[in-house]
Amino acid sequence: MSTKDWLHALPKAELHMHIEGSLEPAMMLELARRNRVSLPYPDIDSIIKAYNFNCLQDFLDIYYQGMSVLLTDEDFHDLTWAYLLRCQADNVVHTEIFFDPQGHTERGVAFATVIDGITTALDRGRAELGISSRLIMCFLRHLDEDSAFRTLEEALPWRERIAGVGLDSSERGHPPAKFQRVFAAAGREGFRRVAHAGEEGPPEYVREALDLLRVERIDHGNRALEDPALVARLAELGIPLTVCPQSNLRLAVIDDMRHHPIRDMLQAGLRATVNSDDPAYFGGYVNDNFDALIDAIDLQRGELLQLVVNSFEASFLPAAEIRDHVARVRAEA
Ligand code: HPA
Ligand code: ZN
Repeated sequence: MSTKDWLHALPKAELHMHIEGSLEPAMMLELARRNRVSLPYPDIDSIIKAYNFNCLQDFLDIYYQGMSVLLTDEDFHDLTWAYLLRCQADNVVHTEIFFDPQGHTERGVAFATVIDGITTALDRGRAELGISSRLIMCFLRHLDEDSAFRTLEEALPWRERIAGVGLDSSERGHPPAKFQRVFAAAGREGFRRVAHAGEEGPPEYVREALDLLRVERIDHGNRALEDPALVARLAELGIPLTVCPQSNLRLAVIDDMRHHPIRDMLQAGLRATVNSDDPAYFGGYVNDNFDALIDAIDLQRGELLQLVVNSFEASFLPAAEIRDHVARVRAEA
């Protein structure tokens, strides 16, 4: 069996995927028609042509425009269900999904609409596909602290359905420190904490995420590698990094997949995982991301197994479920 076939067949978890980033061009056009939203694209080819990014902000501009077609709970259901079917195809048996409530409430879509649609699909995913999930609500870091606090307030009635809070959007110029108080409040309410850091921002932002936001995982974290003392600290604390190879390439965090630092991360003792970030925009789902690494840097089965085991161990599942998943992975590997 080829290494790719072997990897594809292993059960795995995904920990870094923005549900709005799984909006495929065909569904974008369909929802635009259904909801009578006008888009600047006549067809799928012109959408794909627009996916030509030089940096994170180029992508975010298109990503926020894309999500403008999402209006009803049915839209959020359909979006999430389509992603869960891709999980099934990739043998992703557990997924921790980011969503951006402010991307919707700021344009007049109710928080309840977003969460109803997503959770209806997640419940179906559990019942019909056997896929477990958690939801992580991200604050948009280009917006202010007040907006984040209002969003936290809106989430409280849904506390049972939202496992944690995260931080995403434009990193440069928006340090984690800006959200220290809202993360502290979220922690008091029992939410788990993660944050994007060190994607475009400096290693200092990773330190702030640890020290000020008290996060349990770092999303991306690539630039932590510039700071050996920080790498040692992340390794010692066992802080997972949710790494997104195709995103890194498409957003110019790396210049070539052959220079992807995932092997360096593993060799430094970091708990790296492989994830798709925004699969509809960056060229693929989890298995595509693994395949890109296998092609570019010839990751070996031992390294791949470590990454898959890490995906469960870094998850927010209860310890007993993590043990069962890891035992199954090791038995099948
Ligand atoms: N970085 C920051 N914000 C995002 C991303 C990302 O990779 N994807 C969706 N929002
Ligand atoms: Zn992300």
